[in-house]
Amino acid sequence: MKSKNKLLNLLTIEEKAALIEGNDSWNTNGVPRLDIPKLFLTDGPHGLRKVRTVSGGFGISDNAHSTAFPTSVTVASSWNPEHARRMGEAIAEECIAEEVDVLLAPGVNIKRSPLCGRNFEYYSEDPLISGDFGTAFVQGVQSKGVGCSVKHFAANSNENYRFVGNSVVDERALREIYLRAFESVVKKAKPYTVMCSYNQLNGTFASQNQLLLSSLLRDEWGFDGVVMTDWGATCDRVEGVLAGCDLDMPGGVWHNRKSIIEGTLSGRLPISKLDQSVERILTLVDRCASKKSKANGDILEAHAQLSCEIAKEGAVLLKNDGTLPLSGKEKLLVVGEMFEKMRYQGAGSSLINPPRVITPKNAFDERGIPYIYEKGFRCFYTDRDFALEQAALDAAKEADTILFFGGLSDFEESEGFDREHMVMGDNQTKLLDALIATGKKVVLVLFTGAPVELPFFDRLSSMLNMYLPGMYGGEAAAALLYGEVTPSGKLAESWPMSARDTSCYADYNLSAVSQYYESIYVGYRFYDKAGTKLRFPFGFGLSYSSFHYSNLSIKQHGNEITVMIDVTNNGNFSGSEIVQLYVRNNKSKVFKADKELRAFRKEFLAVGETQTIEMKFDQSDLSYWNVKEQRWVLENGSYEIAVAASAADIRLTAQININGGEEAVTPYSDEILAAYDVPPLRIPSVFADLTGHTDRGTKPEPALSLESSLFEFKRSLMGRLLFASVMYVIQKDYKKALAMPDSLERDTRLKNSHFVVKMMPYNSIRSMCMSSGGKFTYQTAIGFVELANGNLIRGLKTLLKKEKPLPLPGE
Ligand code: BGC
Repeated sequence: MKSKNKLLNLLTIEEKAALIEGNDSWNTNGVPRLDIPKLFLTDGPHGLRKVRTVSGGFGISDNAHSTAFPTSVTVASSWNPEHARRMGEAIAEECIAEEVDVLLAPGVNIKRSPLCGRNFEYYSEDPLISGDFGTAFVQGVQSKGVGCSVKHFAANSNENYRFVGNSVVDERALREIYLRAFESVVKKAKPYTVMCSYNQLNGTFASQNQLLLSSLLRDEWGFDGVVMTDWGATCDRVEGVLAGCDLDMPGGVWHNRKSIIEGTLSGRLPISKLDQSVERILTLVDRCASKKSKANGDILEAHAQLSCEIAKEGAVLLKNDGTLPLSGKEKLLVVGEMFEKMRYQGAGSSLINPPRVITPKNAFDERGIPYIYEKGFRCFYTDRDFALEQAALDAAKEADTILFFGGLSDFEESEGFDREHMVMGDNQTKLLDALIATGKKVVLVLFTGAPVELPFFDRLSSMLNMYLPGMYGGEAAAALLYGEVTPSGKLAESWPMSARDTSCYADYNLSAVSQYYESIYVGYRFYDKAGTKLRFPFGFGLSYSSFHYSNLSIKQHGNEITVMIDVTNNGNFSGSEIVQLYVRNNKSKVFKADKELRAFRKEFLAVGETQTIEMKFDQSDLSYWNVKEQRWVLENGSYEIAVAASAADIRLTAQININGGEEAVTPYSDEILAAYDVPPLRIPSVFADLTGHTDRGTKPEPALSLESSLFEFKRSLMGRLLFASVMYVIQKDYKKALAMPDSLERDTRLKNSHFVVKMMPYNSIRSMCMSSGGKFTYQTAIGFVELANGNLIRGLKTLLKKEKPLPLPGE
């Protein structure tokens, strides 16, 4: 390729406009006459999802075989970012084999509520964990010459309103919680690209948010790559480019390309701004053109083995009365269709098509383990099947130990929609109750992407949480249950008793405006200070062994604080321990969480072995974001170092003094300080003062617009017709899948079409148009809005107007 300066001179405005948009769902446009190639971008994050048949828009269709790794929630529960790095390297090898240039991953959004349908795709409620795992993943992928797109930037914490919603967040919570992981990944791993989210942040769509895309990302954090939209997130394309959003995906929307051309000619879009985005695309093309080496051998099998290793490290033992590990001598009854139809990944854009799956049943049979198996309940359904239940109860008479394989289905938890509660299906909870009532030992093996209510927990013998363990998850489960491997994962999220106990419950998904009224009190930062009784605290996880902590020592050298402790495996099994370092905050002039995670380490220890574990952090990590002075402020004073096995199990403490900081004036009014001294349980009246935003979003707009969701269109007769016709088309796929014979193919099709059926009503007409790859034109979208608002003649005229897009370069 010629030099960028030369190319900028040679490219026409039309070609430049084409270069900054996508085509065919996954490609960008190239310019053949100047040898500028197209790039291929695709999902992520738990494997490579390369569609075989491109279908426009979200491109949910038939995917090529690739490794289904454990999802991010499982990877993070390993508390070992090395796994994210190795997984990144492996996925990049598959990208190279499939000629993919950029992987749309990782997702580093913070888990604000356990109800978010997409939590399985995110790492943690804690920014340090999300940042460390995201960084390692990007470093892994990019070390092979494949680019990453860190997503979804930013404050995207629900699925129901992701297309039309507005996240109202105070600046300090943004800086300290929601942006911190992005900042860390951008600074440490230098991702080739960042993907902006669909939602608005404080009233401005992320795709045209100058503060996010330019001031923070580029000017402050030094990002020098491409910002792309999430699929269909473009609002006003020119505003987007002006704000720093380079690439419109999936593209193919003539209205957007035209607005760039017209904007440049009219002066609304200075050519220098257009050139800046084009130059960034050319840099990305250069970066992706780097020489890559193809991995040899059967990479899919090697990667499947790696996925299994990570699944073993990420599974979390949540209870054990000694029933686990199993000896093989039990009179074993296995209940739950998940035994043979394990849920190993989440649904939506990350859905992988692995060449092979090892279910727990496969792994048990491979080992020759004797068991009786009863389905007890059907996967995918929450209705009880009394015949199946009775058969399981009858079989229980012959058993001494019952292994129950259960969890959430993709119909309850998926990208595209949120859960309304944390309750598991009646068909599972009622059967579990009845099995427990038999007096036999009941072990729950759970497959879920996020916390669930466990009302029967006290009566269980043991519980192993596999989360979503990837394609060989059954093998991992068997190895853990039979003690071939000692469980060593810990939760990277708190498990509340129920959704009602969560920090944002008073406003979560009540309307399109999400008021992040809890501010910095997210996850354990909330529960700690609110004194909430939890099912499991953040960082919790058991082992078959036990670990003793001793000899805490601390060194302070300039900005760096080094903490050392000795950990001894004083149990009977070799295994790994995860040590967590929290810092309890000083007495401060601002409100703060009680304590915050500042470092962690996972180490393997043989029986009887002692190791000295060293953890480091920078004292500047203890700073808070001062909104008045617009900078990080480190307060002097005494802080407590707490070395812990979980957020609720502090083993050793010591005080440190920080003198190199300062005594800044509090940026808050007395009212705000009073309202946030402990976490508020509802939206406090000072919330608008805290954020500087008053949008409560209670009144729906009288007239329908491009920004209205498809569901809102039901308000008018024509709108109802539009709603019904769109839903008819997408429900057809769902019904077709339902009619298929029982098979893996049917399950995949059901998940895909269910995801679209659930998601579509929440989609805005604008975003439907922007993600349609040009099939649902802007003109048609406007026409529909006019019709729905009762302007029949104008609507029809608009619909019938024909516009011919300029050909793309090379056409
Ligand atoms: C998702 C992104 C994904 C993109 C392409 C969007 O709907 O939010 O995470 O990368 O689709 O599949």
